[in-house]
Amino acid sequence: MGGLPIYLEVFISITSAICIMIPAAITNPIAVYFGGGRPIDRNHTLFDGRRILGKGKTWRGLYSGTIAGMVLGFGGVIADYLAGTNLYLFGHYPDLFIVVFLLAFGALFGDMLGSFIKRRLNLSPGDELPGMDQYDFIIGAWLLLIIFRPHYFLTHFIYGWRILSLITVIVLTPLAHRATNVFGYKRGFKEVPW
Ligand code: CTP
Ligand code: MG
Repeated sequence: MGGLPIYLEVFISITSAICIMIPAAITNPIAVYFGGGRPIDRNHTLFDGRRILGKGKTWRGLYSGTIAGMVLGFGGVIADYLAGTNLYLFGHYPDLFIVVFLLAFGALFGDMLGSFIKRRLNLSPGDELPGMDQYDFIIGAWLLLIIFRPHYFLTHFIYGWRILSLITVIVLTPLAHRATNVFGYKRGFKEVPW
């Protein structure tokens, strides 16, 4: 670190934050598109009489979203290698496999966590829970990174100028979420625009 002009530190923090979160961000639109079929909670209810996760969390959505996120992440790694840019956005081999998996799976894990909480609050799939709907996938991805790859999380989202990466994600997520869901709703992929 050190030595780079401030405008470059700012530029790198913002752009790398966006690139790093792509494997996480793609998972939900993919799950919306390819999801459906057997629900993960097997239609089971909890003591409160509500579904554990609800009909909106399916195995197909979980598999397709995780695979798509990992394909995009590894695609980025391969492009970085072939182009000789040496950005190592997801860290170094072999850890990058784990980081990409944690980003993709973590996003859908957070999505499930959000649904779990929504069901406990007596909200049906499709009902809005502001905050949770926008940030659940970020919370899931970051939570798994913090647990399993804390050093990667600290060096890419906390230390030095990289705190700007954290802020970038927090600011851009609701905007990106809104834009993709309005698009998905208008195209008929999604039943509600959130
Ligand atoms: N989806 C899926 N499997 C997942 C996540 C999403 O099949 N693991 C699909 C479902 O068809 C779901 C749609 O994507 O209805 C929209 O996802 P989301 O908005 O997260 O779910 P909701 O239906 O709104 O349900 P919830 O209230 O539980 O978030
Ligand atoms: Mg949701």
